[in-house]
Amino acid sequence: MLKCAALLTATCLVEGFAFTPSPTVSLPILAHSSKPFRADNPRRLGNLGLLSTKKTAFESDYASSIDNPSDYWFNLAKEKLDWYTQPTKSLTGGLATADVKWFEDGKLNACYNCIDRHIENGRGGKTAIIFEGDEPSDVTKYSYTEVLARVSKIANMMKSNGVKKGDVVTIYMPMTPDIIFSMLACARIGAVHSVVFAGFSEDAIADRIAASGSKFVFTSDGGLRGGRTIKLKQTVDNAIAKDRAKVLVEKVFVFKRTNEDVNFVDGRDLWADDLLSSQSTECPAEVMGAEDPLFILYTSGSTGQPKGILHTTGGYLLYAQHTTATSFDLQPDDIYACVADAGWITGHTYICYGPLLNGATSTVFESTPLYPDEGRYWDMIQRHKINIFYTAPTAIRSLMRFGDEPPKKYDLSSLRVLGSVGEPINPAAWDWYNDVIGGGKATVVDTYWQTETGGHVALNLPGVHEPKAGSCRGGTYGIDLAILDPKSGEVIEGNDVEGVLAISKPWPGMARTCLGDHERYKTTYLQPYPGFYFAGDGARRDSSGYIWVTGRVDDVINSSGHRIGTAELESSLVSHPLVAQAAVVGYPHDIKGEGVACYCTLTKGTAMTDDLRKDLKQAVRSSIGPFATPDMIIEAPALPMTRSGKIMRRILRKIAGGDTELGDTSTLADPTCVGVLVENAKA
Ligand code: PRX
Repeated sequence: MLKCAALLTATCLVEGFAFTPSPTVSLPILAHSSKPFRADNPRRLGNLGLLSTKKTAFESDYASSIDNPSDYWFNLAKEKLDWYTQPTKSLTGGLATADVKWFEDGKLNACYNCIDRHIENGRGGKTAIIFEGDEPSDVTKYSYTEVLARVSKIANMMKSNGVKKGDVVTIYMPMTPDIIFSMLACARIGAVHSVVFAGFSEDAIADRIAASGSKFVFTSDGGLRGGRTIKLKQTVDNAIAKDRAKVLVEKVFVFKRTNEDVNFVDGRDLWADDLLSSQSTECPAEVMGAEDPLFILYTSGSTGQPKGILHTTGGYLLYAQHTTATSFDLQPDDIYACVADAGWITGHTYICYGPLLNGATSTVFESTPLYPDEGRYWDMIQRHKINIFYTAPTAIRSLMRFGDEPPKKYDLSSLRVLGSVGEPINPAAWDWYNDVIGGGKATVVDTYWQTETGGHVALNLPGVHEPKAGSCRGGTYGIDLAILDPKSGEVIEGNDVEGVLAISKPWPGMARTCLGDHERYKTTYLQPYPGFYFAGDGARRDSSGYIWVTGRVDDVINSSGHRIGTAELESSLVSHPLVAQAAVVGYPHDIKGEGVACYCTLTKGTAMTDDLRKDLKQAVRSSIGPFATPDMIIEAPALPMTRSGKIMRRILRKIAGGDTELGDTSTLADPTCVGVLVENAKA
């Protein structure tokens, strides 16, 4: 990114790719995804009972979900959700017109569907949430009845402090049950939650508050993670000190977690726990339209500011319910644990809404896989007898480093389904997950999806599809996946083909818009290939019809499962006075999947030093958050540009990854700059 707004666009058009119809895409290949599936890998069906019956049932259900999505989802909506007013309409609008709606005239409440109805059906005593705190000894279980009481109190506290239906509430909280309860309380009164992952910086919070016009913030004094305290309230204070947030925020509700001293602003800040003690445990659930917003979640795109992805109520809920039930083969007595953070879409759909809609027992995990030691997950699985465990390849890889001994100390025989999400799972990690964690008996399910899709769109369904290490197989119910020619936009039929991944029919869980910017929604997802939802990923279909996601085709890095826009990283680097220009790329990284490599051209007369590297890392941490901290900062006296002025990121990726086969560099304006970068990357 150059320090010149006019040139911004040029750098975003990476190697000719743009989000316009018929783009030219150069497909990046991710570190692990290109490795072929090994023939000697144990490929097996799950141990899930009547497999052939399930397979046949899937095939006929899948066919009807694709042939007639409107009827398919309409029947399920009536069966699986409770409505105040049953919808008479199913799908209206379409992808080509960017106006998809589901069950438009139906009325329901998300929180009622997640909690109350289970109590009314006599299951109030069932454990809804198992809280596994940072210390393994800190475990609390909440029944559905207890969840309803706490959620209703929070909802009443919000109402009595001015929060109204339609207001956006920013939630910046640690992974305690209160983050889930606060989301549900918003849903109960029709407020729209905008959860900001507690690893984001004060700048990122302020941006999201401003972009969503949020007048209310939920936070806690601090958070606990891996034995450390994270000062959440202080970060919120710093965020609200920024003008763009200060003018908006009226009330900050502060929960207690760490009991440390925090600053309190009179009239603005409120101790939630004090207010809750006097609130009623009864709060009627607001009657919401199926297309009323449920939440906003910001996610990185290829350009500029993160997008506020907006999910609405009826369709999202149905999709969350259905995918949780089917993707994990959820059974009534299962203990289910998704160890993601509620600050990301995985936490929204597969810790909060999906499991609770199914009346399941869901785990809220506050700690890290390495605290107090590398056996934490396995210890937790043994103690709670977890049947379904859902994590990311990066966590698996980081635990594999410790060998087989830590998991072998624990009884993991309760496990039946092992989910994976965030990036393709490389064969070595798949083998370890399958053999060592699953003992060869649990089914590894690779779930491909995005913030925008609301829920899983491609996976190997347990008991139905043979898993293949590294492949997410193909579309789930209602998802008609297509591989398109990136240039012509034509559907590429047949096997052994490669292109960009798209979905050809609307599904209930799809995001409806980007908050306040429907045009951006259209140009990003629906206009690049008219009639299709464009996922932004490359993919190939192998000889047996399985889909392999090859990684993002836009300027988005997927590092440790975190989606980070290179434009955001570049803009924080060039905000440093000694950086004239920056180009950021992802490169293959053993643990993170992709590492973040930053090439910086410094101002004249400045030399790269360790201190400057530290400063630049700090600049990224302050503008985005610690999870985006660069892995490499490489001094770049000049960047490899084509003669038309585009940065050749392909070359930068290879240099950062230590790949000596740089390919054709003759089209560069100045091919000599490459040798300097290769040397500097070694520094
Ligand atoms: O590139 C794909 C990758 O993660 C992106 C979505 O990121 P985000 O919206 O943050 O959601 C992450 C959790 C759903 C996708 O565009 N991705 C996610 N899951 C997989 C994956 N790539 C390959 N295989 C997966 N299972």
